[in-house]
This record gives sequence, C-alpha cells and structure tokens, in this order.
Amino acid sequence: MPMTGVLRPGHAQLRVLDMEESVHFYTNVLGLKETGRDKSGRVYFKAWDERDHNSVILRQADRAGMDFFGFKVESKEVLENLDKALKAYGVTTERMPAGEMMETGERVRFKAPTGHTFELYAEKNHVGNGLGDFAPEAWNPDQKGISPVRMDHALIYGKDIDGTRKLFEEVFGFRVTERVKLEDKTTDLAAFITCSTKAHDLAMVRHGEDDKLHHVSFRLDSWEQVLRAADIMTMNRVSIDIGPTRHGITRGATIYFFDPSGNRLETFCGGYEWYPDMHEITWPVEEVGRAIFYHDRKLNEAFLAVVT
Ligand SMILES: [Fe+2]
Repeated sequence: MPMTGVLRPGHAQLRVLDMEESVHFYTNVLGLKETGRDKSGRVYFKAWDERDHNSVILRQADRAGMDFFGFKVESKEVLENLDKALKAYGVTTERMPAGEMMETGERVRFKAPTGHTFELYAEKNHVGNGLGDFAPEAWNPDQKGISPVRMDHALIYGKDIDGTRKLFEEVFGFRVTERVKLEDKTTDLAAFITCSTKAHDLAMVRHGEDDKLHHVSFRLDSWEQVLRAADIMTMNRVSIDIGPTRHGITRGATIYFFDPSGNRLETFCGGYEWYPDMHEITWPVEEVGRAIFYHDRKLNEAFLAVVT
C-alpha cells in the first residue's frame, strides 16, 4: 500500500444554520449514526462501516461551510514527526488538546495556503461498526436513509492551490492522480491528490476566494446504491445539484446535493484504484465538462459558483 503515515480523511466539522433540522437530515436522510453531543453543542456522527467514534461533526453557526478537515495518521510518533515536518516547512502549527473533540486524541492543526484549516490526529476511540471483530455478518440491517459506508474526501476551493498541493505532496507524501490545466497548459485549475490507493483523498479547485468548501463526499458500495440515494433525496425533497451521473475524473458515479444549510455533499461509488506507478492523468480545460460530468459533458452553473 502506498501509505504515507497519513491513513485517510478522518473528520470534517461542518457549520449548520439550524441544528435540530440538520440532525434530522444527517440522521434520517443521509443516514449517519449520531454518536454524541458535547458541552459546546456540537453533534457527532459516523457512517455505518466506520470504526472510529466520529467522522462528521456539526456546529451551529450563522453561516454554512467547513471549520476544518482532519486526517488520521498511523501513530503518535507519526503525528509528532509530521508536526516537526510542518514547522520545518515553515507552517505554524497549533495543538488541540485530547478531548477537545469527543473521543479524539490530541490534534495538530494548521492552515494551508488556500486558507483551509486542516488537522492531523492519531487517536480516536474505536466504537466498531456494530458487527464485532469475530466472525462478523456482512452488513448491519439497522440502517436509515442513504447510509453511506464512510466519509471519503473533500473538494476545497481557494486561490493558492499550488501551495496547498505542494504542502500535501512535500510534507505528507500525497501524490497527484489527476489535474485539469487552464488554457496556458501550465496552470492547474484543479488537482486531485491521494495518500492511499484511492483516486483522491483531497481535491482542490482554483477560486477567487479562500477557505471555501465545494463538497464533502460519502462513499456507497454500488451504482444501485447511488440510484437508491437519489430516490431517497426525492422522497425527502432534498435539493439536488446534479446527478446521478459519472465523473470523468476518478470515474466515480456521483450525486451532488445540498444539506438544509446549503453545504454541498456528495454520495458516490466506484472510481479506480490508484498505485504509485500509475501515470498522472491530465485534462485540458476544453474537456472540463466531460471531466467533471461525463454524461452532460458541460459544467452546470452551480459547480464553479456555489460554495460555502
Ligand atoms: Fe467528490
């Protein structure tokens, strides 16, 4: 496995406008499991097959968006080493004490050049997926709504995507899987990067405003599950941005939709497995429509404009 010490996206803290409406949506429509509430009023969720205590945290605020995105690392030793590596790279880091987030150990927090707050952590309590570790059943019948397998990745928007990409490549060992090039054939409009065998663990698009969220994505097992997710969205009158369709980039089958606060989320399945000996894929800007929405072959108005 081309693991780098950074294991995977581990948590995203999202701002919501109305907590109870949002808890209903994230529990009964998206189908995450609520795992706790803390003193500050934040509500914690996990997807059914995730083993750690939480992957989505909601905080009530007066505007939507993402507070921070966290990556789980392999061990406390890796956490210390990556903190040192960030400082050596010229990045200021901050320690968030263990327990500041429920069931989560100490976190190393930093700002990326695109203005986004990222975190690394090594410890989050294992609560399991309800199936046990000994001779488990195949899936848990106690599921509501869309019920994704896991929180999978995020797409962020900001100005200096070169700086953020380089930081993740040079400090954490992420690798670029795909890029979209602007007309000059040099400048990246978008970059997709991985720390695993996934086609992307984080993606970024060049945008005039920093610290913006395009979407947080949740993985489903099959195309049938993606179609079922679209049915559940219609049954609940969820605002759908686009889909079900397929991305040319990563080849994932997708739906973009909005939570009640206007945060864009994605449910998707598929995409190829990536290995470090694979060649990077490049898309010219003239093909960006097919790259993002393979069937429509054009971007919709919202893709570039609507971010939180
Ligand atoms: Fe995505």
